Amino acid sequence: MRFPPGFLWGAAAAAHQVEGGNSNCDSWLLEHTEGTIYAEPSGDACDHYHRYAEDIALLAALGFNSYRFSIEWARIEPEPGEFSLAQLEHYRRMLAACHEHGLKTVLTMHHFTSPRWIAARGGWEVPETAKLFARYCERAVEHLGDLIDVACTLNELNLGILLQQQGLLQSDEAIVSAPWRGAAAKALGTNPENFSSFPFCVRSRSREVLLEAHRLGRQALRAGGGKFPIGMTLALRDLQAVAGGEEICNRIRFEAEDVFLEEARGDDFVGVQYYTLQRIGPNGLLHPAPGAKFTQMGYEFWPDGLEAAIRYASAKAQVPVIVTENGLATDDDLQRIEYVERALAGMGRCLSDGIDVRGYFYWSMLDNFEWLFGYAPKFGLVAVDRATQRRIPKPSAGWLGHIASINEI
Ligand code: BGC
Repeated sequence: MRFPPGFLWGAAAAAHQVEGGNSNCDSWLLEHTEGTIYAEPSGDACDHYHRYAEDIALLAALGFNSYRFSIEWARIEPEPGEFSLAQLEHYRRMLAACHEHGLKTVLTMHHFTSPRWIAARGGWEVPETAKLFARYCERAVEHLGDLIDVACTLNELNLGILLQQQGLLQSDEAIVSAPWRGAAAKALGTNPENFSSFPFCVRSRSREVLLEAHRLGRQALRAGGGKFPIGMTLALRDLQAVAGGEEICNRIRFEAEDVFLEEARGDDFVGVQYYTLQRIGPNGLLHPAPGAKFTQMGYEFWPDGLEAAIRYASAKAQVPVIVTENGLATDDDLQRIEYVERALAGMGRCLSDGIDVRGYFYWSMLDNFEWLFGYAPKFGLVAVDRATQRRIPKPSAGWLGHIASINEI
């Protein structure tokens, strides 16, 4: 199978998960608050903030032609309206390093973390945040626009809804009153009701704010002079209704996917992020079938579902698709190769059927900070020695890099 010329092959990362020392953002605060549900703090992460040049060179040497990463709002606008040119310059150097190594840049403006001051004033549940996000995008694109090849506004606008559907976030009230979040609010000198962080934001209030942030962010990026495609990324599952589960499956899909995919019709592409499937019965989500294989995240091993996610996103959004994340956490690198091989086969079938897929980004380049789970899950193509920060490419890195370099399987 040959892929279209110019197909993007890369790996993805997010600022907070790899940079280290990202202490002005809301996640850092939540990681360090008494009663925290994070397994451990992010700390130095992969020290990518200082080691990006080495990492970018490695990605290129492995055979990839692009890098997806995010810039950190909490660094760029540490206080409301106060923009740091030094931090913008840092990201300019990162983008320039990609170009020097022949890597296309896929830049995400927001990947889960926000400045503390945003979290303290209602975060993604108050309409003002959409405007503030657009102002940040405007400043960032003014400084970086000429070096961006593809831009993503927000990573996984639908994450909060998804977590609620999985029963990981309970009612509005339970989230707001969680003691550790209360302590975080106190640390910021705000009421618990005013404190809101992206991954935990409450469905009823946040959906419109997030969609508006995407629209205003897109407008700011488009007006910024650079000419590059702009889209959102979405967490998509392979949702399968089993006997009697059709109605509830449709409802789950509508709330968590359709609302966002319909919005993406106004974009230049949609970012598909796929990890696993979910079966739905008449009473909601079902436990995995007996005998199912699991990844370190407890997700069912089901790479084949990437195909369904691409087909669904493409049909609903009616714009080109980029697979902006796909991967698994495992200690068994052969299992990683099997997962990606099967996922790529599905993506290949989509392309053969004429679906416009423009790229594939494995999540993640490095073993990194997996949010609530800390450093235990191993998503990386490249291992990181936590004591020395040494990078150790796994066989899957060379295997996928080779596919990337010849653009065929
Ligand atoms: C997120 C990443 C995360 C990955 C694996 C995606 O939902 O964008 O930040 O590390 O899933 O769980």
